[in-house]
Amino acid sequence: MSTTSELTRLREFLNELIPSEDQLVRLYQNFCAQIRKGLGSKTNKDASTKCYLTYVQDFPTGNETGKYLALDLGGSKFRVLLIHLKGDSEAEQITKIYDLTERELHSTGVELFDYIAKCLHEFVCEQKVDNEHMPLGFTFSFPCVQTGLSRATLVRWTKGFNCSDTVGEDIGLMLKAAIARRPGLRIDMVAILNDTTGTQMSCAHRNPSCHIGLIVGTGCNACYTEKVENCERLDSKYKDKPKIIINVEWGAFGEKGGVDHLFTDYDRNVDQNSINRGSQIFEKMVSGMYMGELVRLILLRAVNENLVFAQCKLRKHITDILTKKPHCIETKVLSDIANDRGDDWPLVKDVFKQVFNLNNADPDDCMKFKFICDVVVKRSGNMIGVTLSGLVNKVGESFSVIGVDGTVYRCHPNFDGYMRETLDRFVDKDYKYDMMLSEDGSGRGAALVAAVVHRDYMERKS
Ligand code: GLC
Repeated sequence: MSTTSELTRLREFLNELIPSEDQLVRLYQNFCAQIRKGLGSKTNKDASTKCYLTYVQDFPTGNETGKYLALDLGGSKFRVLLIHLKGDSEAEQITKIYDLTERELHSTGVELFDYIAKCLHEFVCEQKVDNEHMPLGFTFSFPCVQTGLSRATLVRWTKGFNCSDTVGEDIGLMLKAAIARRPGLRIDMVAILNDTTGTQMSCAHRNPSCHIGLIVGTGCNACYTEKVENCERLDSKYKDKPKIIINVEWGAFGEKGGVDHLFTDYDRNVDQNSINRGSQIFEKMVSGMYMGELVRLILLRAVNENLVFAQCKLRKHITDILTKKPHCIETKVLSDIANDRGDDWPLVKDVFKQVFNLNNADPDDCMKFKFICDVVVKRSGNMIGVTLSGLVNKVGESFSVIGVDGTVYRCHPNFDGYMRETLDRFVDKDYKYDMMLSEDGSGRGAALVAAVVHRDYMERKS
């Protein structure tokens, strides 16, 4: 059994990853300051959170009908969907998932979009809708400057994507050109949107109080509904509608120092070893792409300091693996072991077997590993709860639903609770909030944006 002093030492060792109340307050203030800068036309260039205008200004009523196509690019998989909106907030959909290999992730933009158009073509033929000329919504989950609903210039790649000749290009035109290169493929791309926007729209379809969309998956980001009078950068011709969705792109928060007071050597290491150094700092502290890696680095140092596996015969071998195999601990593991109640530790032991080929791990080492994982996940949930509070207070409605999607939120049993801990502390007492799991925001949300664009177009015509 571990002595109490051993556990106290481990707790002290992990202390820098457990934000204090004061640190969270600073996080809240820094975040709100960045949002204000992001919205202002003169200050936007200095903001880390760029608060991109999405041009989504119409919200679903639940009565939308019709068939739509959707593309979803932004995570580890690429998906094509056929969605049938049936009114009464109902929808049916067929989804096909296509692999994204390193080849596509690091190809040229033309190759990437040719691949996308090929998958789309195969899909419409398989579904026998190749002659229907359907509207398509494209969920493209990367930072883009939009000048309209279907015009989006890529600012930078995130989440491990890095295709050449795309940054600074119009993604809508690239997709249209790739579609045009395929004889027989006729598609009308009507909107490009971020996954956060899709998530907000899909939840608003069922509950009109959904004012915020959140993704905690490979990446992390949020969007929210803002009053047009607060959007200095919005051209006055868009100001006859009262609201617009803002894509915060908060993954980039911290690039101007807003999270320095919470940044540890582990975070520095993750950033230094990434393909986008100095970028997406908040995202690297909280999202699925990086949390497993943080656990690897913490565990390695803990083993070196004799805090974990101190008595284990394979100690040297474990250190070697942790040193030589970056990403050997996947973020999925953090969710899997959270369900281990600690009678005999079957789930943690399974991870130790897979990663280190270790049998019969000591129960104390299992407990300590679970504790390390929990500290990393809790820090993420608590930090996201703080930034979300900033948005709930900014929306300023008596009740806000937060639509949420992403593997970390879906799979980790305590994540929702960790976010609520800080939401309950930082959301203004006049406002209430709730969280709602999105039903496939990226797909249905894209169809809904396509549908409301279509509705708006028909209304203006009549
Ligand atoms: C990254 C992208 C952002 C997206 C998020 C979640 O942060 O830059 O656009 O919403 O990941 O997928």
